[in-house]
Amino acid sequence: MNKTTVSEEERLFQHQFTLKVQSILSARYDKRPLAFVHTYGCQGNVADSERIKGMLYEMGYDFTDDIGQADFVLYNTCAVREHAEDRVFGNVGALKPYKKDKPSMKIALCGCMMQQQHIRDKMYKSYPFVDLVFGTHAIYKFPQLMFEMLSGGKRVYFAPDDNGLIMEDVPVFRDKDSKAWLPIMYGCNNFCTYCIVPYVRGRERSREPERIINEAKELISQGYKDITLLGQNVNSYGKNTDFNIDFADLIKEINSLEGDFIIRFMTSHPKDCTKKLLDTMASCDKVAKHIHLPFQSGNDRILKQMNRHYTREKYLELINYAKKVMPDISITSDVIVGFPGETTEEFNDTLSLIKEVEFTSLFTFIYSKREGTPASLMDDPISKEEKSRRFKELCDLQEQIAAKRTAKMNGKTYRVLCEGISRNDSSLLSGRTDGNVIIEFKGDNSLIGKYVNVKVTQPLNWIVRGEFINVLNG
Ligand code: SAH
Ligand code: SF4
Ligand code: F3S
Repeated sequence: MNKTTVSEEERLFQHQFTLKVQSILSARYDKRPLAFVHTYGCQGNVADSERIKGMLYEMGYDFTDDIGQADFVLYNTCAVREHAEDRVFGNVGALKPYKKDKPSMKIALCGCMMQQQHIRDKMYKSYPFVDLVFGTHAIYKFPQLMFEMLSGGKRVYFAPDDNGLIMEDVPVFRDKDSKAWLPIMYGCNNFCTYCIVPYVRGRERSREPERIINEAKELISQGYKDITLLGQNVNSYGKNTDFNIDFADLIKEINSLEGDFIIRFMTSHPKDCTKKLLDTMASCDKVAKHIHLPFQSGNDRILKQMNRHYTREKYLELINYAKKVMPDISITSDVIVGFPGETTEEFNDTLSLIKEVEFTSLFTFIYSKREGTPASLMDDPISKEEKSRRFKELCDLQEQIAAKRTAKMNGKTYRVLCEGISRNDSSLLSGRTDGNVIIEFKGDNSLIGKYVNVKVTQPLNWIVRGEFINVLNG
């Protein structure tokens, strides 16, 4: 057993608490009580919530989407930007009247925000109606914490200040039935100067390859068609281990599994993205020809200040290589506007990089100061207004590029995994091309979960609309 993994002894110890919680709940409720679980943040958090829900289900809870009906409310929080934290504070505050109406309701908070001492202090002082708070490194102790919360009269706060452990053999309650998240590693070693993630997620821990491959096999046999391998920096998978396998080798292994499915992964860090990985993507038929490769800034001085360990030139070289070996590749990215001290010229370098690469889509963020990070101590003379102006200029540019790209899709037919009803228009279905472009079309609900051919008829800015042609095998 990998020493970064929760021991078998601890797992069995936690199982005893699962049994104890089961008996408390069956004595307290005449039918299965209901839990409301809401997740903020990235897919890593979504995957954690699927495990937390698996544990809750095992303890005896069912789930509800209606807070008013819930006996237990859990928010899995994100700390990446101030806005994310503010939303959590607002939504937790809004739970107070529910608890007043139904004092037996238990409220819990977990995730990245709760791994931070100053946030836990604030919660303890200002939100006395919250019953349980635990950090990302304490998820494996969830049954024990639930038992303490349900059996004692006191608030339970727990966030070990260690590097976190990998939790294996936990039940997973998956949110979707065609698309699955498969964590391959946890934590981050990169310490980009603006980013809180390494402080709240601990150091990199890679799951054992056999565990990942077995989980992939299980997903395929359960009918999952779209598997996304998750990690903050998947390209450093296997580093500092004795696995003898890197990320490219891992996707090759998964690609060789029997079945009709597509492999995606995120996030890739350009500093560790290799030509070997791009060649592997090109040669593996089940790997989506899509890469999410965050560049953050197009200017070398800013990249250095961010501690990203690559240059604009190195980034563009990777992109050009990817386009050479996969001419249809879809490239998406993250970018930060208004990093402390970013000048107009430096921002213009970001714009010119965006023009050069022509991303399919971009996740754009205004820099947000995070307590405890090196960038929070840097001089930041640029006004909020100027940052907003730059942000708008960047979004406008990307919108034009995206519109140009989607226009090129018009009239072409794409293989699409139909994921469900469209969020924009309930009379349409929504799916995703291999390149991760969302496509909406009219069709019967029985198409959900299937691969279908859809012909694009109406390109919009970010997404496209089309008409259903036929169902594909599989
Ligand atoms: N591990 C991934 C990113 C995880 S966080 C990577 O390195 O690529 C997702 C995105 O949030 C980052 O890529 C970055 O663009 C953004 N982000 C992180 N910290 C931020 C901050 N303090 N302010 C604004 N955006 C931030
Ligand atoms: Fe944050 Fe950088 Fe790690 Fe990504 S690689 S999670 S941006 S520190
Ligand atoms: Fe947020 Fe934590 Fe993910 S800070 S972005 S939920 S790793």
